[in-house]
Amino acid sequence: MDRGDILSGSAFTAVLRSAVVFLLVLVSVGWAALTYVETNLLTQYRADVKERWDILAADHEAEGPDHVVDTIRHVRTLHDSGARALAIFDGGGYLAGNIRTRPPGDGFQIGPLDHESAPPPGNAGEFVYYAGELGGRWLVVGQRLDMLHRTRAAFVQTLALTGFIVVLSMLSLGYFLSWQSLVRLREIEATLERASEGDVSARIPDTGGTTQIDRLAREMNRHLDRSSRLMTTTRNTAAAVAHDLKSPLGRAFLALGRAQDKLEAGADPRDALLDAESDLEQMRGIFATYLQLSRIEANTDSATFGAVGLGALVRDLAETCALVAEDAGQRLTAHLDDADDYEMRGDPQMLQQLVLNLVQNAINHGPQGNEICLELARRGPDIELVVADRGPGIPEEAREAVFQPFHRLDPSRTKPGTGLGLALVRAIVERHGGTIALHDHAPGLRVEIGFPAST
Ligand SMILES: Nc1ncnc2c1ncn2[C@@H]1O[C@H](COP(=O)(O)OP(=O)(O)OP(=O)(O)O)[C@@H](O)[C@H]1O
Ligand SMILES: [Mg+2]
Repeated sequence: MDRGDILSGSAFTAVLRSAVVFLLVLVSVGWAALTYVETNLLTQYRADVKERWDILAADHEAEGPDHVVDTIRHVRTLHDSGARALAIFDGGGYLAGNIRTRPPGDGFQIGPLDHESAPPPGNAGEFVYYAGELGGRWLVVGQRLDMLHRTRAAFVQTLALTGFIVVLSMLSLGYFLSWQSLVRLREIEATLERASEGDVSARIPDTGGTTQIDRLAREMNRHLDRSSRLMTTTRNTAAAVAHDLKSPLGRAFLALGRAQDKLEAGADPRDALLDAESDLEQMRGIFATYLQLSRIEANTDSATFGAVGLGALVRDLAETCALVAEDAGQRLTAHLDDADDYEMRGDPQMLQQLVLNLVQNAINHGPQGNEICLELARRGPDIELVVADRGPGIPEEAREAVFQPFHRLDPSRTKPGTGLGLALVRAIVERHGGTIALHDHAPGLRVEIGFPAST
């Protein structure tokens, strides 16, 4: 995979920006903290230096000027460590201590001293010192700023190391995430290419992830499902239409022939003409339903969508259909919460047609004494519509095929029907953003439909 593509990926560039912001914050916070620590250390050094100066001043007061010079000469530790500075001068110059030349200025000063020991390597040899007059002499007490320099160096090193490790980890993570997205994008690209070349089985592998790309991939797969089904349906439909129209067309042709014979024989041709008309009417019905199916699948009727109370719609239909079922020696009951409107967005006519098709199927394909049940319930954010019956049901292996236009289970075609009912039902469900599943009602068929409810 091209490294340039990974580095220009959105995950990597986002992490890169965050890394720059992190570095800026780290430098500002580090600088503020270092300034605070340095100021505190310096204050402490000053207090320490002044305290030592004051002790010698008190000694001078109590024991006299020569005693102070003596004391300075005999402080052994002064010469062991070069970190402390102490010296006394008079008008003629150096009297005692470890500083050879009197430094300029009085009071607190920061700067180099002419110290007898050289500073350790890497140390600038800077001191904080206090110089003041003591009975005509000049006393200087100082402290080398070792600790301050060590603290500063440790601080800078720690910050640099932290910055380096964090930024390196961030960039590695960004690179990995960018690489991961690029792999997914390449998969999507390859799948779409296969699909555009006519491969109806091409689908983007589902990793079960929840990233935006995963959700996009699932959405694309749904579109691919739909378009491959449309392609398969279109391929199969021409053959199915020809097959299913053959019988009524043949019968109409024969009836017209009979009518012609009757006319020639001077008999009344009306019976034969009525037969031909009914066959042609059946053909017209098939075309009308098929056209409606195509329109719904092509998504062209969205202007008719509005708020629909599914509760009222199902209650009304249940009343009418109960009578039809009764005529067929069957029983239809409805189960829904009367206090709930089951409001959703949709087309009331399409939804009516959906319920009618399912109930009609239950009645047509079910036996006498069949118990048909219409249910509406809320399932989380969805409204669930169930049509269940106690008829022969649909074997599991045929539950996908029955949704294909013109697909019927009864090979002898003894029952009336065109095989378009369930295709229309599924098209309507999908048009409303819902889902449909067929289950075994042991015995019978249970159709479960989920619609998104309006909030
Ligand atoms: N409730 C049911 N019980 C048993 N079989 C069913 C049921 N509903 C549908 N089927 C089977 O599924 C097939 C397809 O149903 P579909 O509604 O698409 O077509 P149809 O009922 O045959 O004709 P029509 O276009 O008039 O509805 C039916 O022919 C039938 O074999
Ligand atoms: Mg049907």
